[in-house]
Amino acid sequence: MEREGPRLIDVRDEPFEVASPSGETPYFATLIAGLEPIVVDELRKRLPRVTFLGAERGKVFFSSDDGADAALDLLTIENLFAYVDQLVELPSTLDGLQAIEEWLARLDLAGVLRLHHGLHDVPQRPSFRITAQRSGDHAYNSLEIAAAAGAGVVRRYGWDVDLSGYDYDVRVYVTDGMALAGLRLSPEALHQRARVKHAAASLNATVAHAMCRLTSPKAGEVVVDPMCGAGTILIERARLAEPALMIGGDLHISPLEAACTNVEAAEVAARLLQWDARCLPLGRASVDALLCNLPWGRRIGSHTANRHLYPGFVRELGRVLRPGGMAALLTQEKRLITRLLEKSSRRLQVVREDHLSLSGTHPAIYLVQRT
Ligand SMILES: C[S@@+](CC[C@H](N)C(=O)[O-])C[C@H]1O[C@@H](n2cnc3c(N)ncnc32)[C@H](O)[C@@H]1O
Repeated sequence: MEREGPRLIDVRDEPFEVASPSGETPYFATLIAGLEPIVVDELRKRLPRVTFLGAERGKVFFSSDDGADAALDLLTIENLFAYVDQLVELPSTLDGLQAIEEWLARLDLAGVLRLHHGLHDVPQRPSFRITAQRSGDHAYNSLEIAAAAGAGVVRRYGWDVDLSGYDYDVRVYVTDGMALAGLRLSPEALHQRARVKHAAASLNATVAHAMCRLTSPKAGEVVVDPMCGAGTILIERARLAEPALMIGGDLHISPLEAACTNVEAAEVAARLLQWDARCLPLGRASVDALLCNLPWGRRIGSHTANRHLYPGFVRELGRVLRPGGMAALLTQEKRLITRLLEKSSRRLQVVREDHLSLSGTHPAIYLVQRT
């Protein structure tokens, strides 16, 4: 049976034309780097009138007539911006700062402000802040970029600068010889949702959601997270299609208590059990989808402990997953998991890998099918 999962997309380093075919202000979303194809898949499935314009690592550009509210409902993105403009051939010398100030002083923000005003109340005399991010080799830092861009906005609009109580958050990304400006539309980082209580190494909700999407979830499935921690993955899975039964388990009581609080707050039906993922109290071939953020041996466990944990877990994965069933596994122990899955005598086949950059770490999502 052919799966209808996210297809790989071309993530480019080169600037591309960002022009909305419908004439509306285009958007860009920031996301955990490596999730681009999964975000594009969510865009295509959830915004019927979307046009995908391009992607670079950590960002996806699109336009849509579905309304900004619909775009704000996306669950795999971190922030949503109205696209303002791109500046190419930005000098890496100190002249670059002058170029940034002139660029912002020239920009007409009327289109993006209209979009913003449709979502947020803004006083007669608005305030703003600039946040800048920089990568590459430049004679200036991100604070100097923000100051130069801010000077440009003040020249053009005369707004007050307010770093904490701002009405408009203008973001400037400088990557090598290119700068990108956007106006933030999302009220806060969209991944900060639903978790009332944290456990150690709680997962970013957008990554949890992406893992769930990869397994092509359907209603009526039996879904298990055998190392559920604070329950983030269970909550994100419930947003996609109602499972017949969803079980989360953990070796320790304290993450299970956090999971209990979180699933209750999110009104998600899940059974929570204390267990060892190397010995699951589940029947052979009884699970349709298994989702798991394993210990990476950094904040949770150790590499030595993982050499004992992972083989038993992979053995149980091969036993409880039904033929054709899917698993999405997140870990930074890439060599260990790959070797164990290869050793499963082709019972467990890796059908896809997505390599992420997540707060200075480089884990991968392994999508595995039980043959
Ligand atoms: C990386 S955390 C999972 C975080 C979770 N996805 C969240 O968002 O909160 C890994 C979890 O595996 C649990 N764990 C470690 N060894 C285990 C074992 N043998 N069986 C079950 N759970 C285990 C830890 O207690 C921890 O809560």
